[in-house]
Amino acid sequence: DGLAHAVKIAEDFLQDDPFVMFLGDNAIEGGISKLIEDFDKNDWNSQIVLKRVEDPTSYGVASFNDDGSIEYLVEKPENPPSNLALVGIYMFDHNVFKAVNAIKPSDRGELEITEAIQWLIDNDYTVFPHVHEGWWVDTGKAPDLLEANSYVLSELIPLVAESATIDEASTVDARVTVQEGAKIINSVVRGPTVIGKNAVIENSYIGPFTSIYHDVTVKNCEIERSILLEASTVKDIDVMLRDSLIGRHAKVRSNRDMKPRGVVMNIADNSTLWI
Ligand code: G1P
Repeated sequence: DGLAHAVKIAEDFLQDDPFVMFLGDNAIEGGISKLIEDFDKNDWNSQIVLKRVEDPTSYGVASFNDDGSIEYLVEKPENPPSNLALVGIYMFDHNVFKAVNAIKPSDRGELEITEAIQWLIDNDYTVFPHVHEGWWVDTGKAPDLLEANSYVLSELIPLVAESATIDEASTVDARVTVQEGAKIINSVVRGPTVIGKNAVIENSYIGPFTSIYHDVTVKNCEIERSILLEASTVKDIDVMLRDSLIGRHAKVRSNRDMKPRGVVMNIADNSTLWI
């Protein structure tokens, strides 16, 4: 019933502890350790994170007073008062429970966390606005997931595990992480890329910004800027797979030896396929 409802039902568990609410589909550069430290050191009742964006209409948006304090917050406004969007990372003390118990559902039927924060502002609690300067991705859609993945991979410090094997016929560049037990056979791997534990890459090309998770098998394929989740298999595909998301235990196979040869699909809800 909304983000503020999540806070409401967590009250018994959280009690008087200060806490972070971090929306799982948000990712920001540098993580939040520094923000937690700042919140701990100061006597703010809440800390919110804001980021300048081109189009803030699908987010919570902040309007500021001349002294740098927040004037008001508004959820998904048609005419945004600024270009500062609310990132889905919030810190609160126990006063937020008064707020979530006081507000009413919004037009979309949700108890909005934005309105709970507004309640804190209206009732003279201190809400500190931190303006984030690094990247922020709200990974609601497939292209955002690939973008967040690219950012994370560029920050990854490459490491090849001792138990990984890369045969002599393979070329693996310097920005590639290869985890324990992974095997790279007769393949070209260009970073930034991560090859997960016990994954097998054979006769293939893995291009930049690709994340291959544990126990994945790739054979006779070319893949770029994609995410292959745990134990998926991609084999004998004649075209390059790019900008693709492959789910856990999913299989992408060739229809080369099938009769009739037609394309065979078994795709999950809300999936998109480009053929
Ligand atoms: C939620 C918040 C919004 C915030 C956004 C960030 O929106 O309500 O204020 O800007 O997360 O991801 P929702 O994801 O519920 O549309």
